[in-house]
Amino acid sequence: MSELENFDPDWLALREPVDHGTRSARLEELLAARLTGRDRVRVVDLGAGSGSTLRHLAPRLAELGVAAAQDWVLVDHDADLLARALASPVPAAASVTTARVDLADREAVREVLSGADVVVGSALLDVLPAPVADGLVEVLSTLDPRPAVLFVLTVTGGASTDPAVAGAAEGFDADQRARGLGPDAAGHVAAAFTARGWSVQREATPWRLGPSPLLTAWARGWFTAAGVAGPDPTAAVVPHEDLLAL
Ligand SMILES: C[S@@+](CC[C@H](N)C(=O)[O-])C[C@H]1O[C@@H](n2cnc3c(N)ncnc32)[C@H](O)[C@@H]1O
Repeated sequence: MSELENFDPDWLALREPVDHGTRSARLEELLAARLTGRDRVRVVDLGAGSGSTLRHLAPRLAELGVAAAQDWVLVDHDADLLARALASPVPAAASVTTARVDLADREAVREVLSGADVVVGSALLDVLPAPVADGLVEVLSTLDPRPAVLFVLTVTGGASTDPAVAGAAEGFDADQRARGLGPDAAGHVAAAFTARGWSVQREATPWRLGPSPLLTAWARGWFTAAGVAGPDPTAAVVPHEDLLAL
């Protein structure tokens, strides 16, 4: 596990409110429609970090008419982030446990996914190498019954800033591809699900950032990863995609 990247909790906290407002409402409605009439649902959040998806989706499902008690399992390799998730107030509809798992460990993934009704992941797929993403789809496809799967806010590349900076998007996307699936993740995973008989729906969910601490922090990381310099942007569009597999 030691080779895995650790994500800065301050960065996750900065992006959380923007992420919550960016996620596809339509795909959440389709997910909720699958869950009505149940007494309990087991939700497994892969790469849960400090619990952003729990804080958004648990109340959102209740708002969409899902009356079931929600048993959430937050899965991550980073014990510090999981501890932060547990230290935050838990939404009323949910009970929460955590599991420290490397998603590359297929047997551990199979175990933690056992009995899941819903599997979610946020800002996850683009940081995974192809074999890890493929392993997830494979394990998910062997579950009986199969859960509903919602992967949101996958970076799809080609971000743009005002003023424009030549080579920055290409440099950032190349850096991501050197670490994992990067901007190819959403298409790669959608194709893998479709090949195994899942019905997949995708929706573009770009960040549209104006002057803000998030824009400043994002631009700093974007330029550094791209290996280019440029003026501080006043605005940026950062393409993402949400994917629902049923
Ligand atoms: C960009 S963060 C997103 C965190 C959270 N889902 C959110 O939206 O705030 C990606 C998360 O995936 C986790 N992660 C990445 N690769 C992983 C792996 N192989 N096993 C377990 N967790 C992993 C990281 O530790 C991190 O918490």
